[in-house]
Amino acid sequence: MRIGIPKEIHAGERRVAGTPKTVKKLIEMGFTVVVEEGAGLAAEHHDEMYAQSGASITSDVKDLWGESDIVLKVHSPQVHPSLGVHEADLIKEGGCLIGFIWPAQNEEILDKLNARNASVLAMDCVPRITRAQKVDALSAMANAAGYRAMIEAVNVYPRFLTGQSTAAGAIKPAKVLVIGAGVAGLAAIGAAKSLGAIVRAFDTRLEVGDQVRSMGAEFLELDFKEDGSGEGGYAKTMSKEFIDAEMKLFAQQAMEVDIIITTALIPGKPAPELITAGMVESMREGGVIVDLAAQQGGNCALTKADELVIHKGVRIIGYTDLPSRMAIQTSWLYASTLVNMLDEMGGAENFDIDMDNDIVRGSLVCHNGQTTWPPPQQPVHAPATSPDQPSLDTASPAVQEKKIKSKFGGIAAMVIIAITLLALGRIAPSEFLSHFTVFVLACFVGWQVVWNVTPALHTPLMSVTNAISGIILIGGMLHLSGSVTGSEITTDTFTIILGAAAVFLAAINISGGFLVTRRMLSMFHK
Ligand code: NAI
Repeated sequence: MRIGIPKEIHAGERRVAGTPKTVKKLIEMGFTVVVEEGAGLAAEHHDEMYAQSGASITSDVKDLWGESDIVLKVHSPQVHPSLGVHEADLIKEGGCLIGFIWPAQNEEILDKLNARNASVLAMDCVPRITRAQKVDALSAMANAAGYRAMIEAVNVYPRFLTGQSTAAGAIKPAKVLVIGAGVAGLAAIGAAKSLGAIVRAFDTRLEVGDQVRSMGAEFLELDFKEDGSGEGGYAKTMSKEFIDAEMKLFAQQAMEVDIIITTALIPGKPAPELITAGMVESMREGGVIVDLAAQQGGNCALTKADELVIHKGVRIIGYTDLPSRMAIQTSWLYASTLVNMLDEMGGAENFDIDMDNDIVRGSLVCHNGQTTWPPPQQPVHAPATSPDQPSLDTASPAVQEKKIKSKFGGIAAMVIIAITLLALGRIAPSEFLSHFTVFVLACFVGWQVVWNVTPALHTPLMSVTNAISGIILIGGMLHLSGSVTGSEITTDTFTIILGAAAVFLAAINISGGFLVTRRMLSMFHK
């Protein structure tokens, strides 16, 4: 199967949909790759580098599009400036195109691609599910954009970001406010913190508060009961009262902070205007606003897309090409998500548009001459009132019946256990009973401790259980050596078997625990 990687023709675009590294991976996956001459130049990837990776280089754009089974692109197709032909008309009949398509805004392009019977996967439509993280190109780009937004701000900010004590006097650290702590917002917080600024953040989704705090920033909250968490990890539209309340907060903050990074957006909606001209004017001279939502109208009233506006000493940056300004990095990130998508589709040998694959179906916008966007809604399971039990009031009759049955089952099991214990108490020797009581209590306490620890803390918990396993290991070894209870018991094969099993299992737990803990700690090493 042949993959074609054309040069991006969108004005100012520096990224490319394949780098020498990812091309090598594609070839290893069994594809042949053709790259347009100069396609990677703006990202410092020269033709010779692609050739060394095993790709062929061509200057024939029509051949690249028309003879490739799959075309990988960054931007949606547009009219080719030198050929005067729309890229969508160049695609091979029944070919496949993967790139950012934005189907809601580009119906005309979809019609053109349908006329060619193309199968089109839009990287902007990848569903936001855990399994799809490796193909989540939007998040990869937003992460880069958030980081770059901070760098652009620092570039025009006429002071230090970090606090300093100099011979001339003390310099206070700059204060940064990040509005919208999604992917881009969190990346901006990380960059601002590492540059030494004091960082505050606000988001309508209260669930991101912990993430913000864990990065060392302050999470600002309103005295207003409304959570902005919507479906699929995205925000929902807030009430007018909420927006008014948050704008009051921003008006206070604008007078205090030096840099504002705004990323507030609900997908498919125009950006809410949160920073008024008055707030801009209330900022200290030299203040900077970077408006990442510039393309969707901007969060600041004075933002102009792709421009740097200076208003009464405050600089307002509305660049919409932030990922493209880091083309080497973002080309690789984006191209890697494309490689992962092709892998998800079966690689060269088993390449298939699998309608049962939720990632492929979610991203597919054209297929067999039809527009297949938006994809059918995945069934949404209503959240249960408690993590393990749905509420009886809202459950269906079948669920209620099942719940009553399991309740009776639980009671019956407890009665059986109680009778067994009673019988055991009457016949077992008293020494056994005291050991057995300790064993049951240990099981109960252990169960309660582990069960009440949130899953996120299970790995550190494992380190603690290492210590417990150490005690088990010593106990097992003592039984094996017979030093605990005398010679007549050590000859008991059952005791030896139990001791050996305890040593074996505890040793696995200890070595596994050390291994996981080591890997976990290495994640925090710089
Ligand atoms: P995201 O959906 O992960 O984050 C947006 C955040 O804004 C969410 O956490 C949401 O809860 C929050 N939000 C929504 N309404 C709000 C409100 N009224 N007040 C406070 N917070 C609110 O989106 P992501 O991926 O972080 O992207 C953020 C923005 O950056 C988008 O506008 C995106 O289009 C833009 N972007 C811009 C680029 C550029 O070059 N300028 C490049 C990439 C992304």
